[in-house]
Amino acid sequence: MRSVQVVRLEGPSGVEVREAPEPTRSDAEVLVEVHTLGISWPDLLQSRGQYQIKPDLPFQLGVDFAGVVREAPPGSGFAAGDRVACCLPYGGGADLVAVPPDSVFPVPDGVTFAKAAALPLNYLTAQFALQTRAGLREGETVLVHGAAGGVGTASLQVARGLGARTVAVVSTEEKAELVRGLGADHVVLVEGFLAAVKELTDGAGVDVVVDVVGGDLFTDSLRALAPLGRLLVVGFTGGRIPEVKVNRLLLNNTDVRGVGWGAYAMARPGFMSAQWDSLLPMITSGVIDPPVGRTYPVEEVASALSDMDARRVLGKTVLTLG
Ligand SMILES: NC(=O)c1ccc[n+]([C@@H]2O[C@H](COP(=O)([O-])OP(=O)(O)OC[C@H]3O[C@@H](n4cnc5c(N)ncnc54)[C@H](OP(=O)(O)O)[C@@H]3O)[C@@H](O)[C@H]2O)c1
Repeated sequence: MRSVQVVRLEGPSGVEVREAPEPTRSDAEVLVEVHTLGISWPDLLQSRGQYQIKPDLPFQLGVDFAGVVREAPPGSGFAAGDRVACCLPYGGGADLVAVPPDSVFPVPDGVTFAKAAALPLNYLTAQFALQTRAGLREGETVLVHGAAGGVGTASLQVARGLGARTVAVVSTEEKAELVRGLGADHVVLVEGFLAAVKELTDGAGVDVVVDVVGGDLFTDSLRALAPLGRLLVVGFTGGRIPEVKVNRLLLNNTDVRGVGWGAYAMARPGFMSAQWDSLLPMITSGVIDPPVGRTYPVEEVASALSDMDARRVLGKTVLTLG
């Protein structure tokens, strides 16, 4: 079978599709025939050895993937032929993958495999960030940085599904177009976003900021918060890890909250399944409808990762296998 492997820790050019033996599943695992593989920022970080998890080389890349169950253990809740999406710390990039049932999620009819591969990482992260960490309430306002990206688009849709008003921050008109199409209530360009947000909210500020960028945006993100606002630290695509002067938190009664979904969720049996169940009504009603950006044949995995690295990605990038 084909296996997407990191063979050198040098970024996209060190990722290759190689032949590998098919896995055998343990009694507890579900065997999944993979049709689509999502590309995400953690894949890019892993290809450089910059992620929290550092497997020995060579290792199989792949966090998000979707396909059809070939075999499942009795009592797992899955059976041969089921359409599923899956999420692993790494290792989902192959024609056939053995997955613990806790990391397998049922995909409703009508959701394509491309969209299914766009769901687990980004939407479970968004749900964890907005509900568990921010305690988002209906009617609050959520600002999303990097809003046209994977976590960004997911955060916009989940926030809307939870009854919030959304402000999408993007870097280009093309990205603005995408997030308008997703129903963002307001779209502002990253350049000068603080002034735009103050104007939109009549000076009040926003209740929650979802920050996947970090870097230079951080201080203005704090300034954009309303009293009792929460800034969610989700990622650092901007490259620099910001520091916070805590007097700012005191002055405006605000919080900075870390969001580390994977390590938390994957260590708690049943946590991800419960999250998925809470999102299913939004998936079936279409409130959650992940925008799939470019799709590539799996052999072009290095190009897909390079495009993400070069900030060219709109929505979720997907590789096709099946
Ligand atoms: N904490 C968690 O639990 C968790 C879970 C999943 C992902 N993450 C993290 O969340 C972040 C976003 O992941 P993603 O999959 O959504 O990535 P993505 O699809 O590439 O989106 C990231 C967005 O960041 C913005 N950006 C700003 N400066 C950038 C730069 N120098 N290079 C590239 N993009 C830049 C881009 O939007 P503009 O061009 O519009 O600014 C881009 O759309 C990553 O850091 C990832 O590791 C964290």
